[in-house]
Amino acid sequence: MTGRLEGKIAIITGAARGTGAATARLFVEEGARVCLADVLDEAGQAVALELGDAAMFQHMDVRSEGDWNRAVEATRERFGSVNVLVNNAAILDVGPIAELDVEKARDILDVNLIGPMIGTSAVLGDMQEAGGGAIVNIGSIDAMEGMGWVAPYSASKWGLRGFTKSAALELGQLGIRVNLVCPAGGSPELTQGFISNIQQRRDAGETIELRGLEGGVLGEREATPRDIANVVLFLASDDAGFCHGAEYMVDGGHTAGHIWFATKSDAKES
Ligand SMILES: NC(=O)c1ccc[n+]([C@@H]2O[C@H](COP(=O)([O-])OP(=O)(O)OC[C@H]3O[C@@H](n4cnc5c(N)ncnc54)[C@H](O)[C@@H]3O)[C@@H](O)[C@H]2O)c1
Repeated sequence: MTGRLEGKIAIITGAARGTGAATARLFVEEGARVCLADVLDEAGQAVALELGDAAMFQHMDVRSEGDWNRAVEATRERFGSVNVLVNNAAILDVGPIAELDVEKARDILDVNLIGPMIGTSAVLGDMQEAGGGAIVNIGSIDAMEGMGWVAPYSASKWGLRGFTKSAALELGQLGIRVNLVCPAGGSPELTQGFISNIQQRRDAGETIELRGLEGGVLGEREATPRDIANVVLFLASDDAGFCHGAEYMVDGGHTAGHIWFATKSDAKES
């Protein structure tokens, strides 16, 4: 049986851990050859090593045009022209707008939004050479809704959503599909800083209630990296040949709306 990504040559950013690493594993299982790119060299190299000859690691800070060009070139030399890009790398910070850290906010926009823009531009030549391609951007439920205390992150993901749609309109003519996957959850490492920041504020005497994800009709859990990777796999594959310029939620129904009249099956014990 052939894999669903046979003949695909992919760059996945932020692939040293979490959703990026899970996506790289699934891509290789399905026959793709993958360049894992990240700033975390040791962790990224370890995942690439585990995946064998179908994988390579490339150091990349997604903010750097030079790093992008080197990664595209190295992937082409090793495997051939890049025809899939997964813009997955991101950072997160937490805090009220009243205490805005301008440098951190700029950094979040740089990594989460400008990074995918540079990456999209960097792979265009290869994708045209390959006769088309697929770009999958990783958004968040925060690209569909707002979230208090993570305004710069949410703004970066709304920006990425807008970029996805504009890129889809521009690049569809070149045979390049562009889509956005919006999970609620992923790697606990992304939110670790978030949790410890809240804890520090509590230790300093602030009362902060952590409400978590309310309203997930499939249960109060978060998406796992594999849940997300499964959707990325579909969008990167030719099975998604008519899917373009859209958002794909992986959130257990969290953003579907709200339940006003609870029936017996969705009523919660009080
Ligand atoms: N974890 C969640 O709860 C959650 C929820 C919704 C959306 N997401 C999104 O899922 C995606 C994957 O995140 P994750 O959950 O696996 O978190 P993660 O923190 O484990 O993964 C992010 C990866 O990006 C890398 N990275 C950070 N800055 C970089 C840079 N400048 N250049 C290159 N790589 C860089 C990190 O080293 C890390 O390996 C992100 O786009 C994130 O916004 C995560």
